[in-house]
Amino acid sequence: MKVLLIGSGGREHALAWALSRSPLCDTLFIAPGNPGTQACGVNVALNALDFEKVLEFIEKKEIGLTVVGPEQPLVAGISDFLEGKGHSVFGPSTVAARLEGSKQFAKDFMVRHDIPTAAYKAFEGDYFTQVLEYVDAKNEYPVVLKADGLAGGKGVLIPENREELLAGLEELFKGTLRAAAQTLVLEEFMPGEEASVFALCDGEHFEIIGTAQDHKRQLDGDKGPNTGGMGAYSPSPLLQKDMLQMVSEQIIAPTVAGMAAEGNPFKGFLYVGLMMTPEGPKVVEFNCRFGDPECQVIIPRLQSDLLTHLVQSTKGALQGEDIVFDDQYRTTVVLVSGGYPLSYQKDFPIFGVDKIQQTDDFQIFHAGTKQYGGQLCTAGGRVLNVVGTGETLHESISMAYKGLEAISFEDMFYRKDIGAKGLNHVS
Ligand code: AMP
Ligand code: GLY
Repeated sequence: MKVLLIGSGGREHALAWALSRSPLCDTLFIAPGNPGTQACGVNVALNALDFEKVLEFIEKKEIGLTVVGPEQPLVAGISDFLEGKGHSVFGPSTVAARLEGSKQFAKDFMVRHDIPTAAYKAFEGDYFTQVLEYVDAKNEYPVVLKADGLAGGKGVLIPENREELLAGLEELFKGTLRAAAQTLVLEEFMPGEEASVFALCDGEHFEIIGTAQDHKRQLDGDKGPNTGGMGAYSPSPLLQKDMLQMVSEQIIAPTVAGMAAEGNPFKGFLYVGLMMTPEGPKVVEFNCRFGDPECQVIIPRLQSDLLTHLVQSTKGALQGEDIVFDDQYRTTVVLVSGGYPLSYQKDFPIFGVDKIQQTDDFQIFHAGTKQYGGQLCTAGGRVLNVVGTGETLHESISMAYKGLEAISFEDMFYRKDIGAKGLNHVS
């Protein structure tokens, strides 16, 4: 089968690596891919949001399955469009992708189906004064302000006091977040540690495809601004067998069943972001795709064939699919351009990557890299994911940090404490 994978980040490099190893995969195309995915297949310069061009390519190359990595093309409707033309797509429909694309849709859905999440209230239109009056009346901080729409991970603000609330409201109501924040969701703050569960869904059934914890903040000790992810580890020690069973029964099963019952069956990767609160696990957010960098620590653990699982999902035949993992831990440290997620420079040469011996126990997944002539260069904020493997979480952390010593580029930055929070929960 010929496969087209859409996306260009570390997540897509990890997916490309696994898909290219499948006995079912004849040729893998990645659009647009990155220098790392080039080693797994053929990179093609296609813009995923130009659906007609994607269709033309699929028909010309006789692609059997299109796998969509990032959320933007899903929310924009790529699955409906391609399926409408008779092509197989792994990734949810536009309406199902609203679980990620609209926070209000997700919250209303969770209330309808009794899925544990933070209490909330949505505000529309001219909401600045209304929100202020509402929070003033309660006078409880922190509160959580969320732009309803996609905001590239920047749409959540957590003011600790009235001054920060005013600044946050300015940002959402009048600032750069305005387009995503036509509707604002105000949420109760949930205390606890975050962890994520990933489910493979075929519209009716689901199978867990891994657990992980990421590190969203820029600096050690969870300081600094939120980023797309500075590192992750899998499995999450907070989601051992019994807890995972509870999350499956109380959160994932009603989500999959609820979407189907409402006529919007969810097919694809369902990313369930959880807060492990004193009252039990509650949903922080849903995403309609795999996590990045969580994918980079989960996919290498998979022993069974990813492509077979994806094909079965698109056919609605996931039931009975045996998803097999190894029993090792994986940790990824993300090497970023200094300054990311704020301003940073790029186009610096990257040294050392080609000298590193990659094995199944030590891998490098590319994200923001580019090849200029024969030289690998930085091309984005998150540049490379270095993934270490170990019998224990501790060993996998050491392996990742030891491996990255050989890599360098100007302004290279990374957190030194990836995985450390997980060590508190393992013996
Ligand atoms: P989201 O985009 O909804 O995942 O939110 C981004 C981040 O904000 C999450 O990863 C949490 O760290 C934090 N967050 C979101 N909602 C809440 C909440 N209700 N209580 C506490 N923290 C939250
Ligand atoms: N690691 C967070 C995300 O993929 O949204």
